[in-house]
Amino acid sequence: MTQIIITRKIFDEAIALLDEAGLDYWHNEDDTPLSLPEMQVRVAEAESIISLLTDRIDAQVMNAAPHLKIIANVAVGYDNIDVAAATERGIIVTNTPGAMTECTADLAFVLILATARHIVAADAFMRAGKFEGWELFQPHLGVELVGKTLGIVGMGRIGTAVARRAALGFQMNVLYTASSPKPEAEQAFGVKHVSFSDLLRQSDFISVHTPLTPQTRHLFTIDEFRQMKPSAIFINTARGPIVKEADLVQALAQGLIAGAGLDVYEEEPIAHPGLAERPNVVMVPHIGSATTETRRRMAVMAAQNVVSVLSGKRPLNPVNRL
Ligand code: GLV
Repeated sequence: MTQIIITRKIFDEAIALLDEAGLDYWHNEDDTPLSLPEMQVRVAEAESIISLLTDRIDAQVMNAAPHLKIIANVAVGYDNIDVAAATERGIIVTNTPGAMTECTADLAFVLILATARHIVAADAFMRAGKFEGWELFQPHLGVELVGKTLGIVGMGRIGTAVARRAALGFQMNVLYTASSPKPEAEQAFGVKHVSFSDLLRQSDFISVHTPLTPQTRHLFTIDEFRQMKPSAIFINTARGPIVKEADLVQALAQGLIAGAGLDVYEEEPIAHPGLAERPNVVMVPHIGSATTETRRRMAVMAAQNVVSVLSGKRPLNPVNRL
């Protein structure tokens, strides 16, 4: 009986933890996505699944896995897992909070700076041999960050790490929305809790750091873009479906906002066709957590959760309460 199904290739350090604990696993070292039927066959005997955010783990998978005790997602987000279905079946779901906080906050800032200073277009310009010398009215004139207002939607770990960079590193004013006020962040970085519509209307940059839930799906539609400043730049390193991507394309095309920096897409791996045509958009392929250190930490954390649960202990990072 294979106790653990590891749906994709993961780091050796994570595998070593399972070996040390004497656990038995199947590791998809080919690293090709498993189809639903393949997954259903693989999990038939499993007590644990170590999944990536690209694996859809729903009731169809769980019903094929009568011995399943824990689904350990190698991600902080877990919208790929039907947590309610897992809870009903007594299956623990875990994630990897904290492992990618700084890395993702860095990427949000990369996108803020890249969009503010037209870095990608300027790089292409240079490579194309178009630079003819310094001019006062050079192409690619951007905007500076000091004194501008950054609106953070979702003030959890990553939102707070972005706020710290913005307030302390770049002397920006920071507004935020969150389900509850964050007095420590307010005290440490001078950030201000505001309503969503105030954040939309007052921010020069808006950066999204909320999980994808039924409440945050399509939080940003044309109505929200319409409330933003025409000079505003929209940054999303959270989850694509928080934004109605067709509306974002429309907002950019109509000049309702000035630009966007995107790491995540509504229908990954596809980006809405209109996005690539817009010069004021910087797009990267879901690399928020993509440093070797972070990805290794995430895999190890998932393995630690599995070891803990399969040795009869409590999970370290549960997302459901059983
Ligand atoms: C990445 O998107 C994650 O949720 O960890």
